[in-house]
Amino acid sequence: MTPLRIPFLSLVPGEDAADVRSAIDRVIARGWFVLGPEVEAFEQEFAAASGAACAVGVGTGTDAIALVLRALGAGAGDEVITTPLSAAYSALAIMMAGARPVFADIDPARMTIDPGQIARAVSPRTRALLPVHLYGQPADMAAIERIAARHNLAIVEDCCQAHLATAGGRPVGTIGVAGAFSFYPTKNLGALGDGGAIVTNDRALADRLRRLRNGGQTDRYHHREPGINSRLDEMQAAILRARLPRLRNWTERRRALAARYRSGLAGSPVTVPPELDPGHVYHLFVGRSGARRDLQAHLAASGIETLIHYPVPIPRQPAMAAVDPAECPVAARVCDEILSLPLHPALHDDEVDAVAAAVRVFEPRTAS
Ligand SMILES: Cc1ncc(COP(=O)(O)O)c(C=O)c1O
Repeated sequence: MTPLRIPFLSLVPGEDAADVRSAIDRVIARGWFVLGPEVEAFEQEFAAASGAACAVGVGTGTDAIALVLRALGAGAGDEVITTPLSAAYSALAIMMAGARPVFADIDPARMTIDPGQIARAVSPRTRALLPVHLYGQPADMAAIERIAARHNLAIVEDCCQAHLATAGGRPVGTIGVAGAFSFYPTKNLGALGDGGAIVTNDRALADRLRRLRNGGQTDRYHHREPGINSRLDEMQAAILRARLPRLRNWTERRRALAARYRSGLAGSPVTVPPELDPGHVYHLFVGRSGARRDLQAHLAASGIETLIHYPVPIPRQPAMAAVDPAECPVAARVCDEILSLPLHPALHDDEVDAVAAAVRVFEPRTAS
């Protein structure tokens, strides 16, 4: 019998390989590589899929966040409240815009920013809120909107892990002023390189962002304001166009696999995250265990690859030392317990069953 081997993810194109290849060939044959017809078409198609009026393609998800904050005028002296549990890029983007990230601890069940903690972190310098729809689970947007309205704050949604997710039935990215998406290859909609987009219902904001991503140019070689160079390229846009029509099915598959994990792991030593909104798109399936290190080693010995998203709360990263010394004890505890199990649309039911079976036979060592 061949030993079990379940990698966390494979980025080699699968059922979409032929379409991806013909998209690449089309771009090469056209000989137009930056900001051209593929980007324009993708922007329209992605906006429609995301339920937004406009989409603006940019270089990365990090740039997408930073550009929106800049367009809103958030900069030196301003604070932007965000979560301590995310990819560090969420907070780094705030710093790229020139503002200061302030961390509000997470809700331990949802694992996204705790609205009660946001309310405590608001100061006269607060300019915007940056909730992250982490692992594909929407943040508690209704409560966040109430705080934003009370203090007149803009909401920018970090949707980098939440393509097609909805919060209370509303598409993420359209609840705040704008939503930032990443097409990093591992994302639910991934490119074969870096890519990002901003969605918004504000057409004037979209026009401004189109300028800012391209050096602030209005017409060729005429720069109205100092923008940056962060353009989605034609090759990535064409690849994303080839994949976008499959995204809804892929998302359904992710949801079905998550449901299978949920029943397979019931009664096991791993705590399964509650699904607090049916608009969850399961970018990751993250369980919790007080014996995380041993569990990860046990699964590795069983041929199952797992990852930790994320091992360190952002405010405890050395890169943030001078930014905000927030303790965020809930995030710190959660970071010690979380473990991401393999979940992607090409994963088979029997692979989920094998992972669940391996988890069930794990016996945490008891303290002697
Ligand atoms: C929640 C979150 N925010 C921001 C980013 C940054 O996106 P990118 O890697 O495209 O810059 C990522 C991805 O790394 C992410 O997962």
